[in-house]
Amino acid sequence: MQKKSIYILSIESSCDDTSAAILQNDKVLSNVVANQKIHAAYGGVVPELASRAHQKNIIPVVQQAIELAGIDKKDINTIAFTRGPGLMGSLLVGTSFAKSLSLALNIPLISVNHMQAHVLAHFIKEIDLTIPEFPFLCLTISGGHTQILKIKNYNTFEILGETIDDAVGEAFDKSAKLLGLPYPGGPLIDKYAKLGNKLAYTFTEPKTSNILDFSFSGLKTAILYFLQREHKKDENFISDNLNDICASIQHTIVNILMKKIKLASKITGIKNVAIAGGVSANSEIRSTLKELGESLDWKTFIPKFEYTTDNAAMIGIVGYYKYLNKDFDTENILASPRLDINS
Ligand code: KG4
Ligand code: ZN
Repeated sequence: MQKKSIYILSIESSCDDTSAAILQNDKVLSNVVANQKIHAAYGGVVPELASRAHQKNIIPVVQQAIELAGIDKKDINTIAFTRGPGLMGSLLVGTSFAKSLSLALNIPLISVNHMQAHVLAHFIKEIDLTIPEFPFLCLTISGGHTQILKIKNYNTFEILGETIDDAVGEAFDKSAKLLGLPYPGGPLIDKYAKLGNKLAYTFTEPKTSNILDFSFSGLKTAILYFLQREHKKDENFISDNLNDICASIQHTIVNILMKKIKLASKITGIKNVAIAGGVSANSEIRSTLKELGESLDWKTFIPKFEYTTDNAAMIGIVGYYKYLNKDFDTENILASPRLDINS
């Protein structure tokens, strides 16, 4: 007998992207993302502007997701939404929208942890990708998080290491800002790095007392001092050497990440290795992980590009697994800006 289809509407609004998706079981039918360009002028996300933009975007984005999926509102079986972590004002928009629609349509409500969703995006069904086998390691790298996780099953995420200061996405964005590039600078560093020499400049890699932890604030300071020194000698230093500087910064960051994930695999003996989160869109991280996997006989899992940065499809896949477990929430559920990975 054929399995009954579940249609999930999912909503993501934790930071500066408003997104809605429709999933049919574990398959994505639509995944609409509205990026908020307004923050570029401010060099970072302005929380008040973000929540206002979510309010403006949420209805059209949801409508478009339903239309693109070719279904009717009445077909939706459940609504999944991001509960946290994230910016309170941004989370509240998605949370209240999801609650109201679940009441109006009289369908179950499912809250989703944004960081779990980044990891579980690997379970979205795609014809050309295999899903990870448990247990697997996941290098979870985004604008707010940097963790090495051991994933035992859909609900158990053991933190083996994490950043003690800045997240890796911040390291990219803050370095980009020092170079005069607009927010978010990560994708731009990636773009210019492709044209540069990654060995042109070297930066000292920060040390941490727990060998699987990360530290990026020292790197940012080292880059700042380096740029100030060079600027004194040549005021066109940045513009004349932008590609080489970007390539060298990126290479240093990628080296730090790869050393730690290699160590985590050696310590745990786990050879299933995944990456997740916005920074996993980075081209050097993707190619280096693939090469490393081939040389170390790992099975590597690299998410489809559109499921790396914030998107609602990843919220929908967690919604699907929670729906199967009848893990529903009531309208009393609250947005939670500081949710940890196991909550
Ligand atoms: O997961 P995400 O979309 O939002 C958070 O949950 O934080 O991650 C956003 C982060 C930003 O810091 C952005 O600069 C970074 O991901 N990012 C990249 C690339 N694409 C996005 N960093 C480096 N290279 C990229 N290609
Ligand atoms: Zn994210």
